Amino acid sequence: MISDRVLRELTNLLGPENIVTRRDDLIPYASDATHLSYMPDAVAFPGNAQDISRILVLANQEEFPVIPRGGGSGKSGGALPVRGGLVLSMDRFNRILLIDPINLIAKVETGVITSVLQEEVEKLDLFYPPDPASIKICTIGGNVAENAGGLRAVKYGVTRDYVLGMTAVLPTGEIIKAGVETAKGVVGYDLTRLLVGSEGTLAVITDVILRLIPKPASTRTMMALFHTVSAAVETVSEITRHKIIPTALELMDRLCIDCVRSELGMSLPPQCGALLLIEVDGDKALTKREAERIREICLQSGAMEFMAASRKREAEKLWEARRNVSAAVYKLRPDKVSEDVVVPRSRMAELSSFLDALGRKYNLSIAAYGHAGDGNIHVNILFDKNAPEETRKVDEVVRELFRKVLEAKGTISGEHGIGLTKAPYLDMEMSRPAIELMARIKLAFDPKGILNPGKIFPYRS
Ligand code: MLT
Ligand code: ZN
Repeated sequence: MISDRVLRELTNLLGPENIVTRRDDLIPYASDATHLSYMPDAVAFPGNAQDISRILVLANQEEFPVIPRGGGSGKSGGALPVRGGLVLSMDRFNRILLIDPINLIAKVETGVITSVLQEEVEKLDLFYPPDPASIKICTIGGNVAENAGGLRAVKYGVTRDYVLGMTAVLPTGEIIKAGVETAKGVVGYDLTRLLVGSEGTLAVITDVILRLIPKPASTRTMMALFHTVSAAVETVSEITRHKIIPTALELMDRLCIDCVRSELGMSLPPQCGALLLIEVDGDKALTKREAERIREICLQSGAMEFMAASRKREAEKLWEARRNVSAAVYKLRPDKVSEDVVVPRSRMAELSSFLDALGRKYNLSIAAYGHAGDGNIHVNILFDKNAPEETRKVDEVVRELFRKVLEAKGTISGEHGIGLTKAPYLDMEMSRPAIELMARIKLAFDPKGILNPGKIFPYRS
């Protein structure tokens, strides 16, 4: 609990317009995309790195938690103030400082909305590929903190692959520069890589230097329908076996299709049990050739139908429906646990049969969708938290799922991070010495454990 005296000090530091403490004003900052809720004591809206530095110095002195927050779209609870304290909203860090078409970089404050940056760079025929499904509400800072992926990761990689450097405030208040503003740089330990994906536990990142690439000249969007998920994911392997790496290669199972059927803008036969949404990009001749080849591969692999979006609006509708799946599956049950596992592409069919059996064994609906091109499947376990016979089973279902994924040489999180919700399972994947090394790194950055406590580590950090 932050005392009234400390709240007064924070108000003096930031000005009364940049701190809120009224319960009603705090509520939007208590929750995120996990739908869990923990009330903070206050929310601060710092305007620059120095403000953050002063807040963190005070937090060390008075020992209260500070929790950085971007768009609040996180899926593992990274921005939740689980031990109360001060939420640090990055809303005011909303400037694009530079887009440089010669050096192919952008310098961006971390509160900038990801889609806003993308629109700005595309005006200059440049491209910033990472595109999490929450692109219209998530921030660059949140993406960097979580090392977010997205639909285009199959071809273009994840946020980490585009971060060249950054300014960050350490939990003890020092402001550092990490990385470079150039295409290359190998000076010292790679602090940039360490901070990307550190889930707001090691530093508060205030601006980043991002790598840009030229905008692809054309794109083509296609949809293939299958009787089963197994047939759809076998087709994914076939596409890569033919040395084609689409921009996006997304899967929806029957439950997901039913939830967004009306949004797809195309009528689908009732016997359709899975679909793939596929996009290719590049120069016109290449995308035409690849699209034709993909059509052949899909039909040879048993697709019941194959359609190509003929207009931009048609393609946009398909992608909007896809981005909306996560929210739409709440139509099935009022609550869900949303997992984010990755297996080698070649083992997705095995995972799909396993999920069918798991749902039957526990009598729970399990919806699966996501980045099939990466082997990254969002396994959504649906339940009703007011039905104790359902909630009791969820943890065991998650553990069985993770055991299967790890046995298949996969990982328990491809893009959502460990945060709060997956911390109890971290030691299923990481060895004790590896977790202890991470804990020593955390201690070196944050000796008093004030920055985003209660995250990542399965025990108190
Ligand atoms: C997505 O791909 O839709 C996002 O990662 C969110 C999710 O559904 O889990
Ligand atoms: Zn995703």
